[in-house]
Amino acid sequence: AILNPMERPLEGQRAVVTSGPTREAIDPVRYISNHSSGRQGHAIARALAEAGARVTLVSGPVQEPDPEGVTTVHIESAREMLAAVEAALPVDIAVCAAAVADWRPALAPARKIKKEEGAAAPVIELVENPDILRTLARHPRRPRLVVGFAAETGDLEALARAKLARKGCDWILANDVSPGSGIFGGESNRILLLTAEGESEAWPELDKREVARRLVRRIADHLAREAD
Ligand code: CTP
Ligand code: CA
Repeated sequence: AILNPMERPLEGQRAVVTSGPTREAIDPVRYISNHSSGRQGHAIARALAEAGARVTLVSGPVQEPDPEGVTTVHIESAREMLAAVEAALPVDIAVCAAAVADWRPALAPARKIKKEEGAAAPVIELVENPDILRTLARHPRRPRLVVGFAAETGDLEALARAKLARKGCDWILANDVSPGSGIFGGESNRILLLTAEGESEAWPELDKREVARRLVRRIADHLAREAD
């Protein structure tokens, strides 16, 4: 069969995608995490690969199967996620879709924390995790295009615009995760795409696989225009 080159517009491009939650150990049997399903990040990795890109997916623990045609690296903590992402560099495209735990327990003792008769409940001190998106956006081997997500409740555009500037990335895909929006952990997303150049694009509510394909088309157009 004759392959239409327009159907594999990212042939020769390399990409790294983060997906799923991270798990931050409290002790050997307990952890802090979140409800991220990994659906959106995995769909993006798959769509990039279908468009011809060589993709490394760095994923926290999820139910989703490893996408075909993608190199999947399984990690647990944010620090492991950052190390795996840096090991995948250099890449042309980075998409950070993971729900990275913002904090981790300061101490993760090698032994299980035990209840003691009459003792008070333990207080778990937290420290901030590395910001993978921000690190990529300021990296000496910065990808040509760095894309992040923003899950917000409140004034979506203002909060996401501020986040885009703070992170130093190129694009932010913002979505409203207010209670009742059904977005977090759901099948679909309603995206507001903001660019560092000041563009803003409201997408209709789409299935997460459709969001992934639309993003990949947008990335291919952008890189093609940039190459001109
Ligand atoms: N992100 C990341 N590493 C972190 C935290 C976030 O790579 N330690 C990425 C996420 O993958 C996402 C983007 O940053 O692409 C925004 O994540 P979000 O949680 O919305 O932003 P935060 O900067 O953590 O701010 P907050 O949670 O306070 O809104
Ligand atoms: Ca966060």
